[in-house]
Amino acid sequence: MGSRIVATGRALPRTSVTNHELERFMETSDEWIRSRTGIGCRYTLRSGEELAEIATEASRSALSRAGMTAADLDAIIVGTVSSEFAFPSFACQVQTRLGADSIPAYDVAAACSGFIYALSVADAHMRAGDFKKVLLVGADALSTFVDWSDRRTSVLFGDGAGAAVMVFEPGSRGVLASLLHSSGKHWDLLSLRATGVRATLDSEIRRDGTDAIKMKGPELFKIAVKSMEEVSRRVAERAGIKLEDVSLVVGHQANQRIISAVADRLGLPAEKVFMNIERYGNTSAGSVPIALDEALEQGRIHDNDLVMLNACGGGLTWGANLLRW
Ligand code: ACO
Repeated sequence: MGSRIVATGRALPRTSVTNHELERFMETSDEWIRSRTGIGCRYTLRSGEELAEIATEASRSALSRAGMTAADLDAIIVGTVSSEFAFPSFACQVQTRLGADSIPAYDVAAACSGFIYALSVADAHMRAGDFKKVLLVGADALSTFVDWSDRRTSVLFGDGAGAAVMVFEPGSRGVLASLLHSSGKHWDLLSLRATGVRATLDSEIRRDGTDAIKMKGPELFKIAVKSMEEVSRRVAERAGIKLEDVSLVVGHQANQRIISAVADRLGLPAEKVFMNIERYGNTSAGSVPIALDEALEQGRIHDNDLVMLNACGGGLTWGANLLRW
């Protein structure tokens, strides 16, 4: 028996912003951003748009591809740190929009590792016999939390949501192993105070350094590479498989150089590493399920392939899941 992803979906804000557009109001360049991060553009939430609506659209798409409705679900688990409300949870906001009722719906706050954490939590519940059908969502809107005058941080983030429907069923396919880690002592490498203020790129409100995302990029870079390499090796060991048998790594899209450095250390060739950061930037918890949805759409994943998901983010948090597709 195993818990298996049977369908995915994704949804983005309407507006995509290129590096050249950022050059108009910030001292930066397309060349700097592309060469340091691999990012060419990113979707950013605008006034009047709601992340919960975008997450619901991604969820509807996943449910429809799974041939299900919200009434079939036993739980909704969302990886996010971008809820409009301290409570109710973001998951409850998605639940009501989907028209589901009374099933448990809750958030997992693990920043960029949110989807990896949510998947691991769902898998554990399913193995315990609690749920048979779960909707997983990863959604964030970190562009609304940056100080747009801080070029070191603001150019990195984009907004969006991905969703996956997981089903517990007989057979050898599904989640083989998961591993989660946190290291609170590194909290100050990437943090955001919970002020509740949101500022879309087109709004009058501007965040300043005191209530925007703070990041120590170079330190984070080193820890991200090391921790994702280690957790990827260990999750493969735990699943009893060899790294070279992994067909595709769908990792958190934080920086092209981080993804490539992890792949090099693991000895994985470029064709086994999915990358779409060029069009999305770092969408935090949205990044892995958005990438997974695109990888499937592009025919990069086949039945019974070994697929690894990994991520590292604020907390610090990091983790990996190994799936037989
Ligand atoms: N445009 C132009 N110049 C810039 C920009 C920009 N957008 N940002 C920084 N610079 C300049 C700096 O001012 C600095 O110039 P100076 O030396 O004259 O002061 C120079 O470029 C180098 O700055 P660094 O911050 O040292 O640049 P680095 O090569 O480390 O790249 C980056 C920065 C891209 C943030 C990198 O450190 C990184 O990717 N770190 C990981 C952070 C990350 O991915 N965070 C996301 C969440 S965490 C996670 O998901 C793993």
